[in-house]
Amino acid sequence: MAKIGILGFGSYLPSRIMTNDDWAVLLDTDDEWITSRSGIKERRIAAADESTVDLAAAAAEKALADAGITAADLDEIIVATDTPEVYFPDTASYLQHRLGAGEVTAFDLGGSGCAGFVLALDVAKARVHAVSKKVLVVGVEIATRIMNWSDRATAVLFGDAAGAVVIGAGDGVKAELLTFDSGTDGRYADILTLETGGTRRPFSLDEAQRGGHREFTMNGREVFRQAVKRMSAAAENVLDRAGRLKDEIALVIPHQANLRIIDAVRNKLGLGEEQVYVNVDRYGNTGSATVPVAMAEAHQEGRIKPGDLVVLTAFGAGFHWSAAALQF
Ligand SMILES: CC(C)(COP(=O)(O)OP(=O)(O)OC[C@H]1O[C@@H](n2cnc3c(N)ncnc32)[C@H](O)[C@@H]1OP(=O)(O)O)[C@@H](O)C(=O)NCCC(=O)NCCS
Repeated sequence: MAKIGILGFGSYLPSRIMTNDDWAVLLDTDDEWITSRSGIKERRIAAADESTVDLAAAAAEKALADAGITAADLDEIIVATDTPEVYFPDTASYLQHRLGAGEVTAFDLGGSGCAGFVLALDVAKARVHAVSKKVLVVGVEIATRIMNWSDRATAVLFGDAAGAVVIGAGDGVKAELLTFDSGTDGRYADILTLETGGTRRPFSLDEAQRGGHREFTMNGREVFRQAVKRMSAAAENVLDRAGRLKDEIALVIPHQANLRIIDAVRNKLGLGEEQVYVNVDRYGNTGSATVPVAMAEAHQEGRIKPGDLVVLTAFGAGFHWSAAALQF
């Protein structure tokens, strides 16, 4: 069986930058609090005329060009997002049409929060193994459009972005997908949730009036604890499954939620700062887009070289986690 892996990388960041000082004008917060608690200095905000499919298409087109193929060559499209274009159908439908892809299998992997992209890679590898030759995988989020802009505990943490890869097999593979560890602990489903809009709490005038549609519930401390525990364990598991050692890791690309979470994972894994990629300072938490954006950047900046062993590790609402070992 030919190697299955990444053929091309792409990312897209909206041009509007919002700094911590900009937030301090709107909310009772300051740069010192945000920086010391999260490591975030600024984030991007999608323009009013941009929606999820615009960001997804921009990242996807770069990934297709990097892979040296066109949308017509795709056999499948998977979009990982919790901030879809519309309630239904899925963003993948709009993206298939926008890109001019064939009448291929296309679906969203929604609801798994920030773990969505790595989980989608896990699915894509299996799909390439079984049926599809080339799968486009996108992680995209416009969190700033669903969050509560007057809640300082959550609003300052998020930003908008999209990242994409093309997965395939054979000679053009730049990074082989070696092993995965994806899992779920639904006991923690309520520590990070947006309830209104589902069948448990449907949209209504009352809900809208009390701001329920933007009631983003987060138990920050529990999310922190679970994230560190699961991200570090999943990273160790993918190494074990690949028969590789921590010493061999060239770079870990973790979900970029918070610098303190990243540092705690790094310490648990016993890695140096230079072995862990960080861009949360520039973009904040962009949900399922953080890992593909960071991977595209690290690749472009020469932080990853041929022969490198790279580990992706992510966590998200659910509570889900997903990690991958990649051989560049
Ligand atoms: C959210 C998080 C940054 C909070 O950090 P923390 O060190 O736990 O903060 P604490 O809970 O100790 O402090 C909260 C205090 O700061 C205040 N506060 C919250 N947001 C603030 C802000 N933006 N500016 C200033 N003060 C703020 C709170 O009101 C509270 O004040 P109080 O003690 O008077 O009640 C941290 O828990 C975290 O990063 N959790 C993970 C979140 C995450 O990654 N979510 C996305 C998952 S994909």
